[in-house]
Amino acid sequence: MTILVKTAAEIAKMRIAGKLAAQVLEMIEPHVTAGVTTNQLNQLCHDYIVNEQQAIPAPLDYHGFPKSICTSVNQVVCHGIPNDKALKSGDIINIDITVIKDGYHGDTSKMFFVGKALPHAQRLVEITQECLYKAMELVKPGAHLGDFGQVIQQYAEKNHYSVVREYCGHGIGVQFHEDPQVLHYGRAGTGEMLMEGNIFTIEPMINAGKRQVKLNKKDGWTVETSDRRLSAQWEHTILVTADGYEVLTARSEESF
Ligand code: MF3
Ligand code: CO
Ligand code: CO
Repeated sequence: MTILVKTAAEIAKMRIAGKLAAQVLEMIEPHVTAGVTTNQLNQLCHDYIVNEQQAIPAPLDYHGFPKSICTSVNQVVCHGIPNDKALKSGDIINIDITVIKDGYHGDTSKMFFVGKALPHAQRLVEITQECLYKAMELVKPGAHLGDFGQVIQQYAEKNHYSVVREYCGHGIGVQFHEDPQVLHYGRAGTGEMLMEGNIFTIEPMINAGKRQVKLNKKDGWTVETSDRRLSAQWEHTILVTADGYEVLTARSEESF
């Protein structure tokens, strides 16, 4: 397994793709309200990506995925397909955006609260974001992939949550999913070592209850917690720099 080292020209394109993906999440935020359907959110994002950004929504037709974004509500872990069901107050939803611009991918997701956040949901969402940030802070040349897995697993389990094992972060560039697989559990010092110019995602999926998940056999995509309890996920696309990291999908609400 080799992690591709991107050239300066490729990095410049990845910066643009990442920024566009982040801007889709910023655009959609005010629309994530009680009563809206995930199909309506899908349409808004699709039109924005295609018409305003002159970019391509990567999920659409990716291995047969039928929509332009992933919308994962409550017990849905990832890869939720937008549908005609309305969101209701108290729901949590992950919106996962991947755009292709000038041949390069930017991939990012965040959690939204619909209406009023319930305390147990808010805690899960916040701890999951902290899992992502703690892993990101370890990114630099010479770090091992296992460093990220360990910090995420330790922090999640310390808070009595569990880490989903079946899905992981990934290298990204010309391809949506490149080597390596970035596991969200593991041991520090194990796995591949990072070099300047590597670009990959970290995207922990953390469950309130047990870690087991089940794939919806009817649609072939939707992944849910087996115990039907809540799951949360946050994702960024990250570049390894000479002395640390650059978040290619940073939103204006974030500072790194
Ligand atoms: N965006 C997801 C990821 O973070 C992948 C979605 S694949 C799709 O890797 F087909 F469901 F869109
Ligand atoms: Co991803
Ligand atoms: Co994603």
